[in-house]
Amino acid sequence: MARQILIAGNWKMNKGAADGAQLIKDLKAQFGSGCSCCCSGAKKPEVLVCPTFTTLSAVVAEAQGSCLLVGAQNIHWADQGAFTGEISGAMLKECGVTHVIIGHSERRQYFGETDATVNQRLKAALKNGLTAVVCVGETLAEREAGTTNVVVERQVRGALADISADDMKKVVIAYEPVWAIGTGKVASDEQAQEVHAFIRGLLKVMFSCPCVADSTRILYGGSMNAANAAGLLAQPDIDGGLIGGASLKPADFATIVKAAA
Ligand code: G3H
Repeated sequence: MARQILIAGNWKMNKGAADGAQLIKDLKAQFGSGCSCCCSGAKKPEVLVCPTFTTLSAVVAEAQGSCLLVGAQNIHWADQGAFTGEISGAMLKECGVTHVIIGHSERRQYFGETDATVNQRLKAALKNGLTAVVCVGETLAEREAGTTNVVVERQVRGALADISADDMKKVVIAYEPVWAIGTGKVASDEQAQEVHAFIRGLLKVMFSCPCVADSTRILYGGSMNAANAAGLLAQPDIDGGLIGGASLKPADFATIVKAAA
């Protein structure tokens, strides 16, 4: 089954509103009018940018009329209430976002995110009609201990607990080996493909409907850049990228998008 490629930029805690709007202007200039490089032709990769909360509205406004989709970097499971520092799905929707990243390893490492809270956040995203990019991936110690598949399976099963085949239409999985994030140490094409194939096989086991495994997009993240994107994106089970550092550089991000087209 042909899966539509998704190239997603995770801006992390970079770019305030003015700088974020400027980055969108720069991306539009890279893509040409109407984002022709990524929105024309037979293959049309989706392009998503995920700024920090306070930058969302400015980016949504600047991205209007272009091919750029806008997502957030987190979502709380409650609709409202005493959850200082959190944000609800309704609030994100009010900003005009359509996507949300959930369970990034930095959330897991620094902010106590667990498989159970990832699952709760995913359910909130789906309830609010948002497309979720759910992140999984092993640490270096886990890879060296030979437990990559065990860890990834636990994370995927935990994130997708009680999620239906129909819900999966709005779920994207991002495999991000923690040791590759922000380190310049990218997984080889073969290493990445191996885990992506494992995740797709796991989806086959988890969902009785085979279309879930065939149609769910699995992105690679971790030091993807303009130089290595083409090799990674050529792998049969890699359906796009979740890009941190390189997504802040318009020319590099545009090169990655072009590599996917
Ligand atoms: O969400 C993006 C990933 O953490 C990858 O970040 O491209 O800077 O390694 P990176």
